[in-house]
Amino acid sequence: MADTQEIVSVLTESRVFPPPEQFSQRAHIRGMQDYQRLWDEAEKDPQKYWGERAREELFWKEPFQTVLDWKPPHARWFVEGKTNLTYNCLDRHLPRLKDKPAILFEGEPGDRRSITYGELSQQVNRLANGLKSLGVKKGDRVGIYLPMVPEAAVAMLACARLGAVHSVVFGGFSAEALQERMKDAGVKVLLTADGGWRKGAVVPLMKNVEAALTHATGIEKVVVLTRTGDGKLPAGPKFLAWDALVKGQSDTCEPEWVESEHPLFILYTSGSTGKPKGVLHSTAGYAMMASLTTRWVFDLREDDVYWCTADVGWVTGHSYVVYGPLMNGVTTVLYEGAPTQPGPDRFWAIIERYKVSILYTAPTAIRAFMRLGDGPVKQHDLSSLRLLGSVGEPINPEAWMWYRDVIGGGRCPVVDTWWQTETGAIMISPLPGATPTKPGSATFPLPGIHAEILDRDGKRVPRGQGGLLFVTKPWPSMLRTVYGDPERYVKTYFSELPGMYFTGDGARTDADGYVWLMGRVDDVVNVAGHRLGTAEVESALVAHAKVAEAAVVGRPDDLKGTALVAFVTLKHGNAPSDALKKELAAHVAKEIGAIARPDEIRFAEGLPKTRSGKIMRRLLRDVAAGNHSTQDTTTLEDLNVLAALRQNDE
Ligand code: PRX
Repeated sequence: MADTQEIVSVLTESRVFPPPEQFSQRAHIRGMQDYQRLWDEAEKDPQKYWGERAREELFWKEPFQTVLDWKPPHARWFVEGKTNLTYNCLDRHLPRLKDKPAILFEGEPGDRRSITYGELSQQVNRLANGLKSLGVKKGDRVGIYLPMVPEAAVAMLACARLGAVHSVVFGGFSAEALQERMKDAGVKVLLTADGGWRKGAVVPLMKNVEAALTHATGIEKVVVLTRTGDGKLPAGPKFLAWDALVKGQSDTCEPEWVESEHPLFILYTSGSTGKPKGVLHSTAGYAMMASLTTRWVFDLREDDVYWCTADVGWVTGHSYVVYGPLMNGVTTVLYEGAPTQPGPDRFWAIIERYKVSILYTAPTAIRAFMRLGDGPVKQHDLSSLRLLGSVGEPINPEAWMWYRDVIGGGRCPVVDTWWQTETGAIMISPLPGATPTKPGSATFPLPGIHAEILDRDGKRVPRGQGGLLFVTKPWPSMLRTVYGDPERYVKTYFSELPGMYFTGDGARTDADGYVWLMGRVDDVVNVAGHRLGTAEVESALVAHAKVAEAAVVGRPDDLKGTALVAFVTLKHGNAPSDALKKELAAHVAKEIGAIARPDEIRFAEGLPKTRSGKIMRRLLRDVAAGNHSTQDTTTLEDLNVLAALRQNDE
């Protein structure tokens, strides 16, 4: 059970920024009365409200009759309807937008491509036909392990066209992580590349794939895109060049009209225990909310050049790089590489070059840029920007202000958007033409979203006090299950309070009812905007031959938000050393990926445990942060262990 007593709020922030008047005048939602009206409509008759939104947002091949069938904790939305997400992203725009850029791509080495809606549609159809020729059908799982290149979007859209379920694995994940995910999802075909560019070096994707394939995965075919040009296509009937697959394929492909609830994608995310969870999203509810929230939260207009800097390997890349923007017919920018490659001004150069009007990025990036100073920003004309967004972790007021003043020139509203892989779409966020913002607050839930802060008995906590964030009613883009593990779906999300979705986050509201997120309350830490289950890092450490036991906790960090600290006890006969620390850190990076590499490793004789043998991570969190714990230690088995850990610190 999550511990609400740990949630102590220390932030006091009183600045308020009303939306600029000029912005509001042209916005989709122009004031708090509009917001309130929508909120009331949704509250009064949720079925009518969501039904209307679904009819407006999507093309329906066959209409739905039932808006929601809710048998807690299982929801089915827009039940009898049929649609196709790729049709909604591409085909329906073609009469008007065929020649408009859909994707503006820039590779890290500086190569550029502009792909129109017409061209994108052709590429998607060719790949869809190619996949069909490999036997991919509706419901089959297709893995995607690609760099941030347009083909990543093409791959997702080709799957959706066929009703195949994609499972994208972030290109920064290791061979082990890839193998585990491919196997769990039962992937039949994997789409990958020889490599990608990151920080001036090649990320060896193909090598990782080959290493993954030395274990059982069930993968029948691997389609390899040439991106970096190093390395030959591996020999054997399993491997196929991307170019060869699409060559000669027709550029038309009839979309598979799927039921609303047909699964669209699986995306793995960290949990507090065990292996990563395959979050499963279905088609229509997800599509509808991705489309609606992109338009409302980013106040999209057709002439916007929109740039969300997330990788397609994360849910933000799914909803706000690919599906949301394309459903709205705007131009979306895709950048392959690192933010400071080759220089600290790369992001700002991109904004100037493409006249980006909307920027959506993560607090960790903003803080990193802040450290570099205003200089690199000032070298570029950022006057095209009109709106800024933040996602992935709490944004501290200082970074929020810097973002607003230095990047946005003081004129662009900032939307701090709260959501999760599981929610599929933004849930709590300002609407930029309506909501007065406060630095560091995600403000209010969107109309129809019942995000509530409750105590462990399900009672609403008073304003100002911290509690657990729940979503108390179903919403269309909610996850449908944990792939292959329906019990885990119920246990993880619906067992704190029956029938209500538990987010795992702590939050509070202030005197004006604004929502302030306060971070995770489970053993999941958020490092640089990416969720990591500490249990996964621990099990990677314990897999090392010299490690007996490990506990991993988060420590507040100025740049990354949270740094990972690992407490490690060694097996007999092994001595602590700096070399071993390095070895263990490298081991974790290999097992999971560089994002999980501990920032600090501390050797310990023993770990603090309860009498029942549970590691008391909350005590370790204090030790890691250098705080003297004021916490209850009555269940601690051996007080000396804690004293020894503290001594190590001094
Ligand atoms: O803890 C919250 C944090 O990120 C978690 C979701 O992570 P993930 O599923 O990887 O999705 C990230 C992108 C949507 C949440 O449980 N989080 C996300 N956005 C915010 C946030 N914390 C505070 N403020 C946010 N705006």
